[in-house]
Amino acid sequence: MKKDEIKKEYRSKIKSYLKHNQLYYENNKPSITDSEYDKLKSVILELEKKYKFLNDENSPSKLVGYKPSKSFDKYKHKIPMLSLSNAFHEEDLKNFEKKIFNFLNLKTKFEYSVEPKIDGISASLTYKNNKLIHGVSRGDGKIGEIITENLKTIKDIPLEIKSNNFPDEIEIRGEVFISKKDFLKIKEKFANPRNAASGSLRQKDPNETKKIPLNFMAYTYGYTSNDDFKYQSNFLRKLNSWGFRTNKDNKLLNAIDSLVKFHKNFEEIRFDLDYDVDGLVYKVNDLNLQKRLGFTSNAPRWAIAHKFSAHSASTKIINIEIQVGRTGALTPVAKVRPINIGGVVVSNATLHNEDEINRKDIRIGDVVKIERAGDVIPHVIEVDKLKREINSKKFKFPSKCPSCGSNTIKEFNFITKKYDAVRRCTNEGFACEKIAIERIKHFISKDAINIDGLGKKVVEKFWDLKFIKLPQDIYNLNYQKISSLDGWGMQSVSNLKFSIENSKEVTLDKFIFSLGIRHIGIENAKIIADFTKTINNFFNLSKNNKINELTHIDGIGETQVKSLKNFFQNKVNIKVVEKLMSILKVKNKEIKKGGKFRNRSFMFTGKLQNISRAEAKSLIEENSGSIVSSVSKKLDYLVIGEKPTNRKVQQAKNLGIKILSQKEWYDLLN
Ligand code: IVH
Repeated sequence: MKKDEIKKEYRSKIKSYLKHNQLYYENNKPSITDSEYDKLKSVILELEKKYKFLNDENSPSKLVGYKPSKSFDKYKHKIPMLSLSNAFHEEDLKNFEKKIFNFLNLKTKFEYSVEPKIDGISASLTYKNNKLIHGVSRGDGKIGEIITENLKTIKDIPLEIKSNNFPDEIEIRGEVFISKKDFLKIKEKFANPRNAASGSLRQKDPNETKKIPLNFMAYTYGYTSNDDFKYQSNFLRKLNSWGFRTNKDNKLLNAIDSLVKFHKNFEEIRFDLDYDVDGLVYKVNDLNLQKRLGFTSNAPRWAIAHKFSAHSASTKIINIEIQVGRTGALTPVAKVRPINIGGVVVSNATLHNEDEINRKDIRIGDVVKIERAGDVIPHVIEVDKLKREINSKKFKFPSKCPSCGSNTIKEFNFITKKYDAVRRCTNEGFACEKIAIERIKHFISKDAINIDGLGKKVVEKFWDLKFIKLPQDIYNLNYQKISSLDGWGMQSVSNLKFSIENSKEVTLDKFIFSLGIRHIGIENAKIIADFTKTINNFFNLSKNNKINELTHIDGIGETQVKSLKNFFQNKVNIKVVEKLMSILKVKNKEIKKGGKFRNRSFMFTGKLQNISRAEAKSLIEENSGSIVSSVSKKLDYLVIGEKPTNRKVQQAKNLGIKILSQKEWYDLLN
């Protein structure tokens, strides 16, 4: 890469970094996960390391945290509130320790104060003559916001210290956080507990802060009038004796391998804590050594944060629930103790299917490792059998549908010659409540009828209120009743009405897709619409074995035909289609008249020269012809390319069907 390009790339990363800072710190509404944010930061730092000419005052190497918000008065920290460097692997810890030995020219071992790194936001409390005089946020590390009144609402923060050995003036620093339990109550509003704490703490009105219960744990000091503390561990004990809450899991350890062991164990049990921890902080315990070590530009040399994985975490399965999908598939879902994985709080993990549960022997009460990467649904990667309780029982997958009580089956797949891994409810219609709700959600979805004022949550609510039972009920809603519901204003009701009205005109393929027939996805729906042309023809498929005709269309196989038959065998399904036909205006497929191949059907066998099958098909269709996929009396022309299937050619000959070479077909076309 050229220098200019590198600079351009760097500047765009800085710009993005500033944008996400603002979203995170000022708006409390991040649009990327914490780990994506960390990655962005490390890309910038790496670029700077590699290309020394890169430099920007807004770089994360210069900025700590984010500039204070305009809504609060500013406060210049007497001693900057810096951040910590991160370690992810044992190697990083070894490097960290080696640098300390070198810097101090030390020969003997030293101790570490090991402290859980609570994932909240730091705050500084200044006490003068035993009284809390002001409380400040970290801000950008140099200048914070005065949020004294908000901090005073936190019950863990003493307003006055009774002890007589308390310094005349001291600034206590610690972490403000929200418990997991309290976070769950407001989880719709915030991405994770940390955002919730930050949002609550920086409310303009302390009465708003009071509404979300916050906690505070103290862990260090900034400025102090009598600096005679010797050890961090002693200072933590002192904090406690003065009335501050400190972490009961703080520890004293003295070697990298014991740090690593403690870290591994803590990572496995952190789900048991009622607050989010994103790693451990290791601090040189001897405060004299800390002073000698000092700071680099934005972090102390005497401490490091050993982070937990951003992709996986251990937690406990509280329950296994069986969800029923639109096509009747029973999907087991593990309800787990909420755990923060890379900034996202996970409380559900898919267990895929019955076979997966059996293979991994997953049970209620098990401690499991969950992985969450990108957009993939969190899933269990392994069970920690050592942590299993003696009286734990094997999970028994239900043999009846948990929603409607119907029998469930595992279908035999004739292609793989195996039973499906998925168990299904055998209900084909709307009699199974869970299937019905899912089918209505599918009906309104974007590629189907597309009613954007009616989301999945609203469908569930309207179902509970018995406003809708079948798709057609959507067109008979009582808007008066809806407008009296909580959260429904005039505008939202009129938006809903508008989008429902708008959805009435629909193309045939979307209509077919909206019915949610198993194995009939959007592509198959298009093929069927192309074949049937009108809604009436489609409906007529339900009569007199007409569906079998579909077998001859390219792209439709036995599976789809069987599924359509099942669908039309159900009386409620037929009623739904009939009713929808009377409400909706389903646009017929344009029937091209007068095309060269009108009423003519074609089939291809063998490889064509210089033209793909798809193009050949579309040429036929543009000329009003149709494509079939098997040789029968209904076929008019069999076009043969290179290496045709002999059986097909023979069959065509036997039936007296006209056989064309590619060249002859072209001649016919032109
Ligand atoms: S010491 C100069 N100790 O981690 C280092 N920080 O990235 C001062 N944190 O801003 C921090 N638990 O919000 C320290 N026991 C602990 C901590 C802790 C959580 C947070 C704090 C700080 C960030 C550092």
